[in-house]
Amino acid sequence: MAEERKTHRRVWRLLVAALALTGFAQMPIFKRYYVADVPGFGWLANFTLNHSLHLALGAAFLAIVAYLAVQGIARRSAWTIAGLSRAAVVGALAASGLLRAVMDLPGTVYPQTAFIAMDLVHLGATMAWGALELALWAAKVRARRRGLVGDGVRTPKAF
Ligand code: HEM
Repeated sequence: MAEERKTHRRVWRLLVAALALTGFAQMPIFKRYYVADVPGFGWLANFTLNHSLHLALGAAFLAIVAYLAVQGIARRSAWTIAGLSRAAVVGALAASGLLRAVMDLPGTVYPQTAFIAMDLVHLGATMAWGALELALWAAKVRARRRGLVGDGVRTPKAF
């Protein structure tokens, strides 16, 4: 069971890392800052490829997030501040990503401000999640150093 949880966590981290990579590749910062010029990294400058990869991985992300949300509610998991903060940023990321994907569907017309707003929410949630994970990690390291293992900063099971 512990081994299975480890595998799930690894797959989840890999999925999030791949989404972040393909997301930033669409901006397109890897071409601008010459990362794509490094042999083997040229594909990072290919918008269409990264956009398609991002959407395919995004579908898996949405399915997992929906499953975890239902499971968390059904099991009445203990709600910690860390868990709720995570749920808020992941929820914003998933919702803005889904809405942004819907806006890209052919035959639909939205005002330009809606695109910009959704992009900003999506990017903002990405940054906020990164900052939150860093803060939680730092809190965990500090708690471990002080011998306070097992306090409220532990990663909730659902994530
Ligand atoms: C870990 C989760 C995710 C991360 C870190 C992430 C990250 C990003 C980043 C950094 C961008 C570029 C933002 C910009 O151009 O301003 C982006 C764009 C986008 N993402 Fe995500 N994303 C995630 C999940 C999703 C999901 C679940 C979907 C929905 C299927 C999605 C759909 C999109 C779309 C449609 C775009 C816009 C592409 C365009 O400019 O046409 N993302 N994402």
